[in-house]
Amino acid sequence: MYKKLMTCFASVKEKVDFQPEIALILGSGLGDYVDEIQVEQTIPYAEIEGFPVSTVKGHKGKFVFGYVEDRPVVIMQGRVHYYEGYPMSDVVLPTRMMGMMGAKKILLTNAAGGCNPDFQPGDLMMITDHIAAAIPNPLIGPNIDELGTRFPDMSQVYSRRLQEVIRQCAHACEIPIREGVYVQFTGPSYETPAEIRMARSWGGDAVGMSTACEAIAARHMGMEVGGISCITNMAAGLSDQTLSHQEVQETADQVSKVFKKLVTEIIISM
Ligand code: HPA
Repeated sequence: MYKKLMTCFASVKEKVDFQPEIALILGSGLGDYVDEIQVEQTIPYAEIEGFPVSTVKGHKGKFVFGYVEDRPVVIMQGRVHYYEGYPMSDVVLPTRMMGMMGAKKILLTNAAGGCNPDFQPGDLMMITDHIAAAIPNPLIGPNIDELGTRFPDMSQVYSRRLQEVIRQCAHACEIPIREGVYVQFTGPSYETPAEIRMARSWGGDAVGMSTACEAIAARHMGMEVGGISCITNMAAGLSDQTLSHQEVQETADQVSKVFKKLVTEIIISM
């Protein structure tokens, strides 16, 4: 795995000369965030040797390098999902690469279903912690000692400092923000009402098909992690509506303007 990572890294290094400070992964609805930043360079994933290439509709797969005000960032426009069939080690490969490029901090965003009954579609939720017990751990396999330790601590995945930054940015932008625990399932089917009751009893507030694995890989290599979910729908059993990708995308698109404003504010302040 380390060899594969180094091959991809070398392939990017050949094409790009840019030192990012912050990494950003764009979830559904944020795909066009890159239009708001000063883009310096882009690389489609397909041009990176050995790189897992994403297939989901609405996810454009490329790394975008540029500046948000004066902060050098690397952005993943389109992520890799476990349900596409890649091993977990491939799913987190791009996260690791952004760390290797020099990003010491990472902001993870996603679309999620709300399983906290107080939430509403369209809410933004700062991730305070996650539950990854329903997915294979991305660190399974020989440990990559060059990146981190075999048994990394996960007692503060989403840094307290960044949580405070996110709160303050939301407050400054007058954007209401919820807080809660994100539960990752594998997908691609949405959860059953029974699974959502389980997630709720575990202490979850939102459910989705990404992010926790990336947060684990990022913490493994010592990156500082922050996360925000866009609650695009109420999770299965919490409303009478059936779930669809279309509903998820429609809500994400409606919220995107506010979400993008918040992301910019956070990146400038993080
Ligand atoms: N479940 C899982 N993933 C999701 C959901 C959901 O309800 N909404 C958006 N992504």
